[in-house]
Order: sequence, then C-alpha cells, then structure tokens
Amino acid sequence: MTIDKSEKKILGITLALIGLFVFSLLYAKNKYKSDVPECLPYDKAYTEPKINQLDSNTFQVFSVASMWQFQPAEIYIPAGSEVDFYLTSKDVVHGFNISDKNINMMAVYGAINKTTVKFDKPGVYDIVCHEYCGVGHQNMRAQVIVNYPEAK
Ligand code: CUA
Repeated sequence: MTIDKSEKKILGITLALIGLFVFSLLYAKNKYKSDVPECLPYDKAYTEPKINQLDSNTFQVFSVASMWQFQPAEIYIPAGSEVDFYLTSKDVVHGFNISDKNINMMAVYGAINKTTVKFDKPGVYDIVCHEYCGVGHQNMRAQVIVNYPEAK
C-alpha cells in the first residue's frame, strides 16, 4: 500500500493541529488553574442543603439546585476559607458558575459534582446558574459572603 504525497501532507497537518489543540488545553489548564470537577457516586445525603464547618476555615457546602434557586442561598465564611462544594439538582440540569473563581459546574439530578474553592479575599462572590433552565433562570443565584462581619 502506498500513500499519496498529498495524503501524507494532510496527515501531517492533521497531527500538527491535534498537537496544537492538546498543547492549548494543557496551557489553558495551567494558566487559568482550572480543574475538572470530580464526579462522586450518588448518595441521598447530598440532596439535603447544608453547610458543615469542619474546622476554623474548612467548610463543606451541600448545594442543591432546583427551579429556580440554590440552597443554601447565602454562605457566610471567613476569609482564607477552603470550601468543598458538593452539587446536585432536584429537577432539571442547572449551571453553577462562580466567575470570580473560574468555577464552572453542572448540577445534574442523580449525580454529585464536587469542587474545592479557596476564598482568600473578603467580598461577595456570586453563584449564578449559567445553564438555561426555564422561566426563572435569570433569577437563579446564590452568594458566598466572605468575612461576613465586614460584608454585612
Ligand atoms: Cu437553573 Cu438556569
């Protein structure tokens, strides 16, 4: 079997493009420090909205999305906290975006997604649903309030 010269050329260009694509992905992952969220085995325990404080600056938030709200809607933590978000949905697919922290997750019924976020700077961080989920979509938001005595 022989390969035509022009075919070889196309193969070469294709491989170079794939290489460039993979390189861009790794570069972006590094530059924006974005991590792929973890997917955990489904457990009913996560479907109950909850904030657990593990120690002075470590928290677990069980965030439950539904039409059209996030629960808990307000999360008060001190600056320097590390928060593990466990995310699920009660109904349709919702988004979970904290743009200031480059967090982008999906809330899916029957699935638990997890990500860890560190909040070093005081302030109010918006959590926004960025997946269209019906007529109340644009009102679907929550807040992480860091260093609450000052923020209140
Ligand atoms: Cu939930 Cu859009």
